Amino acid sequence: MDKHNLDGDEAVRSTNDDASHCKRFAVQLGYWTDPYLPLLVRSTERKTPEINRGYFARVIGITNIIEKFIKAMEGNCQIVNFGAGFDTLYWKLLDAGLSVKKFVEIDFANVTSRKCHYIRNNDKLIRGLHSDDEEIRYSTSELHSGVYHLAAADLRKLSEVESKLAECSMEYNVPTLFLFECVLVYMPIQFSHALLQLIADKFSTTFCINYEQVNMTDRFGDVMLSNLRSRGCSLAGVEACASLKSQEDRFILNGWDGARALEMNQVYHSLISPVEIQRIEKIEFLDEKELLDQLFHHYCICVAWKDSLDLKLNLLTID
Ligand SMILES: C[S@@+](CC[C@H](N)C(=O)[O-])C[C@H]1O[C@@H](n2cnc3c(N)ncnc32)[C@H](O)[C@@H]1O
Repeated sequence: MDKHNLDGDEAVRSTNDDASHCKRFAVQLGYWTDPYLPLLVRSTERKTPEINRGYFARVIGITNIIEKFIKAMEGNCQIVNFGAGFDTLYWKLLDAGLSVKKFVEIDFANVTSRKCHYIRNNDKLIRGLHSDDEEIRYSTSELHSGVYHLAAADLRKLSEVESKLAECSMEYNVPTLFLFECVLVYMPIQFSHALLQLIADKFSTTFCINYEQVNMTDRFGDVMLSNLRSRGCSLAGVEACASLKSQEDRFILNGWDGARALEMNQVYHSLISPVEIQRIEKIEFLDEKELLDQLFHHYCICVAWKDSLDLKLNLLTID
C-alpha cells in the first residue's frame, strides 16, 4: 500500500513496521542480541549508522532502566508495555532470568493480531508463555497466558484500556512499570494526559518510562515533522515534546509524584557502559558525529514515579 494514501491511524500503526525493521537491522549487525526479533520481522534493507546507533541507545537505555526496576522490586512487580508493537522485551527478560508477576502488551488490534499470529506459530515464542502451566487463551487479536498478555485497545479510549487491564487481572497495589516507547507522541495531548492520569489514579505504586522526541521547536524538529506529515503521519502530541521540562511537567500535572527527563546524549554517556559503547562504535564507521548528536538532542527518556510505598523509586532515575 502506498504510505501517502494511508489514513492517520493506519500511518500510526505502520510506525511499528518502521521501528521493528530498524531494530531488526541493528540486531543483524550485532548492536545488541535479540534472538526473538527475527521470528517476528524479516531481514530488511540497510539503515544508516546514525539510525542504528540511535536505536542501540534507545533499546539499551530503556532495557537498563527496566532491569534496575525489576531487580529493585525483586520481581514482585508488573510491566505494561503500551503501544508495544513487535517488541520482544518479555522473552529477553525471561532469558535474563528477570521474570515478573505480569507482563501486558497493548496495541491496536491490527498490530496485535499480526503479533498473535506469529507467536502462535512459533515454538520458541510459545515456549516462553508456558512457564506457569496455565492454559493459553487465544482470539484473533489477543493472547492471554498466566503471566504474558497481548491485548487490543485504542489507548485514546480510556474505557477500553481500563477493561483490558482488568481482563489481564492486573493488581492495582503491586508496583507496576509502564513503558511508552515512541507512542504518546502519536496522540493529541488531551488523550495522553487522561491516560497518564488514569494510571496515577488506579495504581498506588508506579514507575513510567517514556521515550520520544524532545526539543522539537527548532529547525531540525520542523524538518522531522514535515517529513512525517508527507508520509501521512502527524505527531499529534508534539506539544509535549517542546523541552525536557514539558516532558516532565505532563506527569506532574497528571498526578505523578516526580519525573526526570534526559536527552539521549546524556543517556548514551551515563547509562550505557563504556565497554559496550567502545564495542558498538567499532561496528560501523561514522563520517561525522554531528548528525548523531543532533538526533540524540531530539530524543529523550523521561522516567516518572508515584511512590506510595516509599520504595525510593526516585533513585531509579537515570543519573
Ligand atoms: C513507533 S511504534 C513503536 C512500537 C514499539 N513501542 C517500539 O518502540 O518498538 C508506535 C506503536 O504505538 C502504537 N499506537 C500508537 N497510538 C496508539 C493508540 N492510540 N492505541 C494503541 N496503540 C497505539 C502503534 O500501533 C505502534 O505499534
